[in-house]
Amino acid sequence: MHLIDGNQIATALIAELKAEVATFTGRKPCLTLVRVGDDPASVSYVKKKEKTAAEIGVTSRIILPPVTITQAELFALIDGLNADPTVDGILVQSPLPKHLDEVAVFRRVSPAKDVDGFNTLNLGKVAQEDDTGFVSCTPAGIMELLARSGTDLKGKHVVVLGRSLIVGKPIALLALQKRAGANATVTICHSGTTNLPALTRQADVLIAAIGRPEFVTADMVKPGAIVIDVGINRVPDATKKTGYRLTGDVHFPTVAPLCAMITPVPGGVGPMTVALLMKNTVKAFHLRAAP
Ligand code: GUN
Repeated sequence: MHLIDGNQIATALIAELKAEVATFTGRKPCLTLVRVGDDPASVSYVKKKEKTAAEIGVTSRIILPPVTITQAELFALIDGLNADPTVDGILVQSPLPKHLDEVAVFRRVSPAKDVDGFNTLNLGKVAQEDDTGFVSCTPAGIMELLARSGTDLKGKHVVVLGRSLIVGKPIALLALQKRAGANATVTICHSGTTNLPALTRQADVLIAAIGRPEFVTADMVKPGAIVIDVGINRVPDATKKTGYRLTGDVHFPTVAPLCAMITPVPGGVGPMTVALLMKNTVKAFHLRAAP
């Protein structure tokens, strides 16, 4: 079993971006992060995004509107950022408080600054295999992780567990694309799928993005499969200072020995998401700087 080291691969990508940004004279790329409320996971993700931006030389700004912000006020805030010539990328951290319509907020972000890739136009471009858009960071990070660990998906059966807008749907479309490294046969499973283990056992590459701690057990995995664990779940653990531990969507101790390759949690997909956000921000900067 080979452990795919997301930290190492993300570090390599970050070093490449840092070298590229160092060549920019004048204004540096600017990423604006919007976080509404104090979801503990979001607080930690946004911190990590700011820290990585600083490491690369990307300017980051953080906006923390009150949790009571209305939809109209959040739209107005996004409109302001869309019109601000010093802002290249805009990210509204998910999840948003329940009273806000998250998809409507994603739609409001200008497609040219949508480094999250959740806007309708950018999601459509993934379906159309048009490289001028932005691919959402976690799916793009998974593709990069697979490519840089020497996995070609061509002809492989990729089974995606989960149909979210953030991971499940876009990763299925990316794996399906008719291009080098992709060309997979793709099955998407979800909470309504009947006889799930029979399907997941067919996977050459299993992508677990269902958001349930340790959901994938050994009986659901074909020996020799590649397993990508997208889950980052906080489960209570009294032995930890924080009171919780992080676990993926895969029961790692029993599944890992079966696999050809597997990503750990933490240290697998997570760091790649942040690295791809930076890559998208640099891309947004180039696109906006182009005449
Ligand atoms: N929440 C979990 N993943 C993501 C992501 O990739 N982008 C945003 N904006 N929120 C998230």
